[in-house]
Amino acid sequence: MNTETLTISDNRTGKKYEIPIWQGTIRAMDLRQIKTSDEDFGLMTYDPGFTNTASCKSHITMLDGERGVLWYRGYPIEQLAEQSTFLETAYLILHGELPTKSQLDAWIRSITHHTLLHENTKKFIDGFHYDAHPMGILVSTVAGLSTFYPDAKDIHNSESRQVQTYRLIAKMPTIAAFAYRHSLGMPYAYPDNDLTYTGNFLNMLFKATELKYTPNPVLERALDVLFILHADHEQNCSANTMRSVGSSYADPFCATAAAAAALYGPLHGGANEAVLRMLNQIGSKDNVPQFIARVKAGEGRLMGFGHRVYKNYDPRARIIKQIADQVFEVTGRNPLLNIALELERIALEDDYFVSRRLYPNVDFYSGIIYQAMGFPVPIFPVLFAIPRTAGWIAQWEEMLLDKDQKIARPRQVYRGETRRNYVPLAARG
Ligand SMILES: CC(C)(COP(=O)(O)OP(=O)(O)OC[C@H]1O[C@@H](n2cnc3c(N)ncnc32)[C@H](O)[C@@H]1OP(=O)(O)O)[C@@H](O)C(=O)NCCC(=O)NCCS
Repeated sequence: MNTETLTISDNRTGKKYEIPIWQGTIRAMDLRQIKTSDEDFGLMTYDPGFTNTASCKSHITMLDGERGVLWYRGYPIEQLAEQSTFLETAYLILHGELPTKSQLDAWIRSITHHTLLHENTKKFIDGFHYDAHPMGILVSTVAGLSTFYPDAKDIHNSESRQVQTYRLIAKMPTIAAFAYRHSLGMPYAYPDNDLTYTGNFLNMLFKATELKYTPNPVLERALDVLFILHADHEQNCSANTMRSVGSSYADPFCATAAAAAALYGPLHGGANEAVLRMLNQIGSKDNVPQFIARVKAGEGRLMGFGHRVYKNYDPRARIIKQIADQVFEVTGRNPLLNIALELERIALEDDYFVSRRLYPNVDFYSGIIYQAMGFPVPIFPVLFAIPRTAGWIAQWEEMLLDKDQKIARPRQVYRGETRRNYVPLAARG
């Protein structure tokens, strides 16, 4: 007898069904045969927010939320954060294996070669208002890039996908930096291809009148590690958006713009920005107990706490806390850190947070570091979107190559009116 099955007994009809179990899942379509009559549509699952639905098979990222474990392609995040670079990690995420020396050199060369933006792109960035949120500029500009690269529509061609991958990973920092400088009214700083990926990003953001910008090596490395930590996170809201939009065969620039839009929300990548605003609002360590009491009374959330999957300390938050010390040695300690530490201390002892298994997530400390490094608060979600682009593209390509995948199209439980006749305007009360 095959024990890898589930026997379902339908109490409405008394019928029994045997459903195969595969990798701890049952296929939702196997439920469709369970009907009360021939006219019955058949059983579906109801799962708003996909809380217990696997939407795909994936080989990219493994996340064990109970144990607080995160691997990219089998490599623990702690080892990558300590020993890898962002571009090497991006290669790993996209190709499945760590590169050889020559593969890595070629990969870095190809990314570096694509960092420039078409000059016309500057014109539409110029059109934004001076206080436009950089995430809005990023989302629109990435979508706009699809008009510059019509070849990106050739999504079933692996060579084309490769070129779009170079373009997207290379150009995201340039767009982000241009958006930032636009908000300050500063001239755009062009990429310096002698620098590393993160070194060049710092150059495009902060270069003033010096002929050559030299990034601080501690800050450059800290940003690189932060980028490694943000590179992928399996089927989160934005990865799911990337797959969903990509499943209609939209080009990868439009799909990435949609994913970035999903990331923008305060419950996802906008949380780092929300944490900073929250810490500023709390103002001092003494106000922390009062703030916690308000959260417990349901008057707002403790931003940077809680996660759909992690029911344990987010391993990325642990690494970020260590980076914070290195960064503060260069920049001086961000006074908001004291408030954050006190919030964490109280929350980790409080039954409200303990019983709901709410722990600090990646966004709780990242904003404090970004601020110490001189980044303005609105650019925080952009700092998340840049490295996550590698993950989005990997998820998109995996979706395209997976024979099981179809256009994303959920079902619904219709609860509206039954059929009724149109009432002419004059006859309505
Ligand atoms: C990440 C998040 C959206 C996950 O949400 P979710 O899996 O849908 O969890 P729920 O919203 O169902 O929360 C479960 C319970 O914990 C509470 N909760 C969750 N996150 C909370 C937070 N940050 N502060 C206070 N209470 C929180 C909810 O109110 C709920 O309590 P209840 O059972 O009494 O109603 C949520 O934890 C959150 O909003 N966190 C703050 C935003 C954030 O930091 N996002 C970045 C994620 S990387």
